[in-house]
Amino acid sequence: MDKYKVVIAGRIMPPALAAIQEQCEVLQWDRPVPPTLSQLTRWLQDAEGLFVLPNIAVNEELLAAAPKLRVIAQPAVGYDNIDIQACTNRKIPFGNTPGVLVETTADLAFGLLLTAARRIHEGWDWVRAGKWQPGASLPLGVDLYGKTLGIVGLGAIGTAVARRAQASGMKVIYHNRRPRPNHEVLGVEYRLFEDLLTEADFIVVLTPLTPESRGLFGAKEFARMKPTVYFINAARGAVVDTQALYNALADGQIAYAALDVTDPEPLPADHPLIKLPNILIAPHIGSATTETRNKMALLAAENLLLGLAGKPLVTCVNTEVNYRQQKA
Ligand code: DGY
Repeated sequence: MDKYKVVIAGRIMPPALAAIQEQCEVLQWDRPVPPTLSQLTRWLQDAEGLFVLPNIAVNEELLAAAPKLRVIAQPAVGYDNIDIQACTNRKIPFGNTPGVLVETTADLAFGLLLTAARRIHEGWDWVRAGKWQPGASLPLGVDLYGKTLGIVGLGAIGTAVARRAQASGMKVIYHNRRPRPNHEVLGVEYRLFEDLLTEADFIVVLTPLTPESRGLFGAKEFARMKPTVYFINAARGAVVDTQALYNALADGQIAYAALDVTDPEPLPADHPLIKLPNILIAPHIGSATTETRNKMALLAAENLLLGLAGKPLVTCVNTEVNYRQQKA
């Protein structure tokens, strides 16, 4: 049997690569810097499947250069790099990887909150710099217990963060476009966006990046927050206006930020945010454990192979084209 022709647009976890190679003839981009559009489109001329990564834009131009493409899979829950409508117009199902990274990403989001509040990273820097001397002390942190956490974007990851916060004695409020029907059973309370901003002691952002959520947190929103608020972004950098966040932190309008995502990404080493004393930045590692990255890559590989075989993907975003028979 002829093997399917597949492009893998970056480095992926070895078990997923092995599963794909069993059934496919693979062209894999294996350099650390992502391929340019022209490099990728040259490879895609004959490709039936594309395994893509979140740092690559899948747009009209790319799809136009890939006339044989029948499925696209990506090992990430977010898919703001993908023009879903363009995929749907071409009847190409796109698969992401929800579910498998929920607990891992919640650990990181809550870990950022706890680390920032209790100055854990600053303490370690201080010890390492030999500053732990008799009489010397680090600026004090703040308690979680008894405080209010506001979650913006209460999906599966937000729910897992809420559980962690409740275990630490926090009250949890949230904002989604619509209240969740079952929110009482989660022990959380709904708030309008503006009310959450004024009430929360800690804010965790987990909303996907969409045209509506781009720049959701700007100067006006930071001005509404308590001056003591801790602001945590574990969603996408562009949900926040970076300059407005910088100003709010530099002017003491908010107390602290802890970010797993930034805009731009990666953040240049000389970026002004990095020089602030009241910030903690992680390099987009929400799902970065061996177990979870393997699960994500294997689910994406499964989606890819199912699409190539003309079967519905396990986790498809544009469900209206999730059946190959529609392409006949
Ligand atoms: C996701 O799965 O969306 C993570 O943020 C990795 O991009």
